[in-house]
Formats: sequence, structure tokens, C-alpha cells
Amino acid sequence: MPVPLFDTKTPLAPLREQILARMEEVVDDGRYILGPNVGAFEQEFAAYVGAEHAIGVANGTDALTLALRAMGVGPGDEVVVPSFTFYASAEAIPPTGATPVFCDVDPDTFCVTPETVKAALTPRTKAVVVVHLFGNVAPVREIEALGVPVLEDAAQAAGSVSEDGRPGALGTAATFSFFPSKNLGCFGDGGAVTTRDRELADRVRMLRFHGSWDKVTYEHVGCNSRLDELQAAILRVQLPHLDGWADGRRAAGRHYAQAGLGELVELPVPVRGCDPAWHLYVIRHAQADAIAAALAEAGHGQKAYYRTPIHRQPAMAQWGAGAELPATDEIARTHLAIPVSPVLSAEQAADVTATIAAAVAAAVA
Ligand SMILES: Cc1ncc(COP(=O)(O)O)c(C=O)c1O
Repeated sequence: MPVPLFDTKTPLAPLREQILARMEEVVDDGRYILGPNVGAFEQEFAAYVGAEHAIGVANGTDALTLALRAMGVGPGDEVVVPSFTFYASAEAIPPTGATPVFCDVDPDTFCVTPETVKAALTPRTKAVVVVHLFGNVAPVREIEALGVPVLEDAAQAAGSVSEDGRPGALGTAATFSFFPSKNLGCFGDGGAVTTRDRELADRVRMLRFHGSWDKVTYEHVGCNSRLDELQAAILRVQLPHLDGWADGRRAAGRHYAQAGLGELVELPVPVRGCDPAWHLYVIRHAQADAIAAALAEAGHGQKAYYRTPIHRQPAMAQWGAGAELPATDEIARTHLAIPVSPVLSAEQAADVTATIAAAVAAAVA
């Protein structure tokens, strides 16, 4: 049976009636912008991640730009960011007036390390965007020890845990995306900033609302970037299930290991002290494209997400041109996401693994 790259429908099916009822409540209530569900979700999500404050915004990209601005990042500053991540992690930096400076990652964990960040620091570095890629949790405490503020890009890591706590409560601030396919996804776009710092939270709240508290006085050039009331209501139904879904994602990783996938390809390695809720399950192999073709032929989902890393993207040429990032270039060539979801079964993992085994055997023959 074909196995999809991800399965968002099956986990949500038991919640359908509850979600529809909450949506109906919002429709009847009539408060569609920054109403009671946004306020309640902000409190519930902050409590979940272990931060004091959460601010709902329109998407994970805005969350990054607003958080950086609230951290004081502006023209003339540099922000260190990995090149092996979704484009938005870096795209969010130039709108602040600052310059992205690309750093390398650990090829086993796909995350930045204190060493890769340190190599990119200069006297102009104002912050580091630490991406918890694919659900892994980058070593925030060790990176902060370099003396630079950390903004966690936790878009892919809701539900993961590390020995220092949950993503979202590890750095100066953190950002989330609630894009539908994320570990916690709504039915459209949505995002959040979390932080323990009250003043930083207040600045994000202002910036998301045209730089104003009261629609009378405008203290900053902000923007209009709010989490919709309907999306917040949907997220509130889902949040209590996030940990269960995260366990299912971890189990999917174990199913692949038990099926012997680790003998065929490089499996993703959790950062020390971290228990990832795999958002994407990303393997590495020199013949990744041949494996992808075999999976596609069998009807299984697969995707090479970041074949061209960000520092080689045309829009980033002015900042990425001189960057030497050997691990990034290597994993950009060799990575491949294979199916993962909270409900991926041992049988599905065995089917996918069998297809990969045949592809690897054919590639070396
Ligand atoms: C690592 C990472 N950062 C940022 C984003 C941007 O989030 P959004 O699509 O909600 O703007 C995403 C989402 O795709 C992501 O995966």
C-alpha cells in the first residue's frame, strides 16, 4: 500500500465534531480578530512550551521578523542563520534591515552547533536564528554560552523535548508556524512568538498590530500580522493532543530503525539530550535521488526539501556568495524525507524500508 509523506487527516478525524463545534461558536460569537480564543490559546500555548508569553501572529515567517525586531535587530546588524533550513528562516532577516550570515550544520543532526555558529560570529552579530530542524532540538544553551542572543526557529519542533525543556522556552525568544502540515497545524496560516521576557512580548504584541496598543497612537512602523480567531479555536482543540501525536512521530522513527533502515541509509541522529517529535523523517544516502525515484514508483511519499541550500538561492546571492559550508552542501545533495506521521505503522515503515532496500541494492549493483 502506498504510504503518504505525511498524514494530517487520520489524527484529526476523531476531533472533527469538536473542531466544527468550536468553529461554529466563533461564527456565532462574531469576534473574529483577537477575540477570546486567541487570548486563551496564547496562554495555553505559553504554558505548554514553558514560556511566560505567547503572541499569536499570522504565520511563522512573520513570527521570525517580528521577534527579531523585538530583540532589537535592525539596520547594520548581522544575524547568523543556517543555510540548510526552510528559506523563511533567512528570508525573515532582511526585512529587519539586518544582514543574514550563513553558518554550517552538523550533518548527523541537521542542526547548528556552537562550533558552526562561532565560525560565523563577528562584532556585528546581534542574534542567531537557531533552527530546530525536522523536529530535532539544537543545543541552545551551549550556543547562548558564546554570548549571543538566540532566537529559536521552532516551526518544525512543536512536541519535541530536550533536557533543558521544550523548544519555545530555551532561547531569548522562539517562533512557531501552525501551517497545516506542521506537528501542530491549523486550517490555514498561523504562527506564534514565545518568550519569557515581558518587554519583548509587549513589543511583539505592538508590532503585530501596526505598532499600536490602542489604534489611536502609533509608536512603531509595525504590520498587520495576527492569528485568526477561527484558527486559534481550532488550535485549542488540538493542543491537548500534541504530546500524543509527538509520541506517534517518535514511534514512527523506531519502526524504521526496527525495520532495519539504519543498515541501508544514514538515519537522523537526535541531538544529545533531546527526544525529537520527528516533523520530517530525513535520511541520507549518496544515491538519494535513485531512492526517491524508487519510492515514487512504489507510490510512497518522498521529498528532497532543500536540494539548493539558502546561501545558493538567487535572492540570497549578495549575502550567501562567499559562504563555505561543506556539511550543508553535502546534506543538500544526499538528504531525502520519507513518510512520517503520528500514525505511521510498523507495517508501513517495513514497506517503505523494503522499497529503499531494493533501490539501494540496485544502485550498488
Ligand atoms: C523551519 C521553518 N521556519 C519558518 C517557517 C515559516 O513558517 P510559515 O510557513 O508559517 O510562514 C517554516 C514553515 O514552513 C519552517 O519550516
